[in-house]
Amino acid sequence: MSYSEVYARWKSDPEAFWMDAAASIDWVKAPTKALFDENAPLYEWYSDGMVNACWNAVDRHVEAGHGDRIAIIHDSPVTHSTHEITYAELRDRVASLAGALRAKGVEKGDRVIIYMPMVPEALEAMLACARLGAIHSVVFGGFAAHELAVRIDDAKPKCIIAASCGIEPGRVVHYKPLLDGALAQSTHQPDFCVIFQRDQEVAHLEEGRDVAWHTFQYGVEPAECVPVEGNHPAYILYTSGTTGAPKGVIRATGGHLVALEWTMTNIYAMEPGEVFWAASDVGWVVGHSYICYAPLIHGCTTIVFEGKPVGTPDPGTFWRVVRDHDVKVLFTAPTAVRAIRREDPEGEFHKKYDTSGLRALFLAGERADPDTIKWAEALLNVPVIDHWWQTETGYAIAANPLGIEALPVKVGSPSVAMPGYDVQILDEAGHPVKPGELGAIAIKLPLPPGTLPGLWNAEARFRKSYLEHFPGYYETGDAGMVDEEGYLYIMARTDDVINVAGHRLSTGAMEEVLTSHPDVAECAVIGVADQLKGQLPMGFLCISKGVERPHGDIVKECVKLVRDQIGPVAAFKLALVVERLPKTRSGKILRGTMAKIADGETFKMPATIDDPAILDELRTALLTLGYAKEAEAAK
Ligand code: COA
Ligand code: AMP
Repeated sequence: MSYSEVYARWKSDPEAFWMDAAASIDWVKAPTKALFDENAPLYEWYSDGMVNACWNAVDRHVEAGHGDRIAIIHDSPVTHSTHEITYAELRDRVASLAGALRAKGVEKGDRVIIYMPMVPEALEAMLACARLGAIHSVVFGGFAAHELAVRIDDAKPKCIIAASCGIEPGRVVHYKPLLDGALAQSTHQPDFCVIFQRDQEVAHLEEGRDVAWHTFQYGVEPAECVPVEGNHPAYILYTSGTTGAPKGVIRATGGHLVALEWTMTNIYAMEPGEVFWAASDVGWVVGHSYICYAPLIHGCTTIVFEGKPVGTPDPGTFWRVVRDHDVKVLFTAPTAVRAIRREDPEGEFHKKYDTSGLRALFLAGERADPDTIKWAEALLNVPVIDHWWQTETGYAIAANPLGIEALPVKVGSPSVAMPGYDVQILDEAGHPVKPGELGAIAIKLPLPPGTLPGLWNAEARFRKSYLEHFPGYYETGDAGMVDEEGYLYIMARTDDVINVAGHRLSTGAMEEVLTSHPDVAECAVIGVADQLKGQLPMGFLCISKGVERPHGDIVKECVKLVRDQIGPVAAFKLALVVERLPKTRSGKILRGTMAKIADGETFKMPATIDDPAILDELRTALLTLGYAKEAEAAK
């Protein structure tokens, strides 16, 4: 069947489409139907089925006789080591960890926060939770103690699983002190913490609260897989919204399993037993779906890569990993390719490795610029496929589905909507616009299985953030257009979320931190264009009247504050002091206009601007940092 036939089949009978897809999953009790729409516009999938995610990702492959197949390869240039774990070993390790968690009281529905670097134990911790029906929430290691504390207070975990340390090029990240710092700030306290002690740093354990990963598993009864309802939350993953408080995206178990399995065959064209590598981090949605769950559900080998595209040790690392492990499909962010290209524009490092086993490179997380795509295509001689998705959806909304049919690539477009997604471009009033016209990208409800059924403990926020602006649709927060042939183009965010090195960050969260500085009266944070990371955050600080301290000191303190409060991942290094901020007459800061000025783009003078002269002041200030070249207001 062609892509258009598959899409039309879904559209004409979504229920039959998703019930067919559900047959690829082992159910303890099969669901009687796919969609549960009694509470529309809140939807659920496979709610009356009973299932276990760990069984589907691990045990069933062992039962089917594939216990000797490699499930996980840990390739860690930062520790100079590589090791492999078979499916049988993975089952035993996960059952033992789950047994130990259960012995200390963790049960179905309990939350467990996981704060770990790129080690197989991070996946084992996720799978052990899934085995028990406990709900994991993985927090990215590049977040600081405060961000971890916010998530602890929201998820209220019974247990936190952390590693003693992570390893970034040139420095050890002391996870345990960060965890201790977070627990000192959070109101909620877990019953216990499990610490995975790494060779590079052995952390101090708090008596009565902390247990060591290996010790606490000693002599426990391994746990079996606990069946859960299809709509039972598998995990919560916090992501940035417009305000400082992160949104806890819920993933329901049944739809998650069905949808991910569908994508492995139909989008990525993977066969069980082959090696799939998502070069991301378990702390992000890509890591949840394509480092941990999808490859394992499909019976593939997944790679846990602990390193960077460059500097560990050189820009040939990715190609070395592809060759060493015979990777068939590589998935990463465009920024990683840009980083490699910057250090090895001629592809000299690539020449050292035979990557002919690779079939495709998939990119997501941010806009894939045509130059990067063309460079990677020429270097690797494989299709380079841009695909578009969000933490909320958990997998691609639009892609080029290689497993169904390789559609012609249009560089600059993540191709076409996947079955399950009726993507529409709407004007401000919610009316569909014509092909080629820009608008807000919305998806007709219901969203397909595997996408978020809601936000953790925040139904009103869920409705407000996604459902209310365009009734009957899910609002993606992205703006763009669709062409006559149905190819989508993702152009910008409609909110204040920015994308830094494929990481989604809230400018609102950074503004909250900056205003906590005693000398800052008012501030704004925008995303400015960056050749490597796509965007970088830039802060504008208005200093309180009467403060005489050197501005340079205040800027330095603000940069440190964001790093300490949000974390190094915010990459907040640019800030400048200004007299005033451009605003509308009603007092709204004109962040969009500021960003255009900083990027040197032409912009339309906002009709509602309070005082246009501020824009010239702003431009002069930006020029001192090397930004705002060539900006001018369109006549
Ligand atoms: N734990 C602790 N700190 C971390 C971290 C982690 N897991 N991940 C990143 N950081 C730190 C970095 O060390 C860096 O700190 P620094 O300011 O002291 O240098 C900071 O956070 C910013 O990190 P990053 O934006 O990743 O920049 P970088 O210079 O270290 O690397 C790239 C640049 C392009 C190589 C890197 O961003 C990259 O590989 N990006 C791919 C992104 C990706 O996989 N996204 C997921 C969506 S698919
Ligand atoms: P995250 O939730 O962190 O995965 O970030 C999702 C956001 O990243 C989307 O809403 C887009 O703004 C952006 N994004 C992800 N993939 C793409 C892509 N292929 N092209 C353009 N933007 C993308």
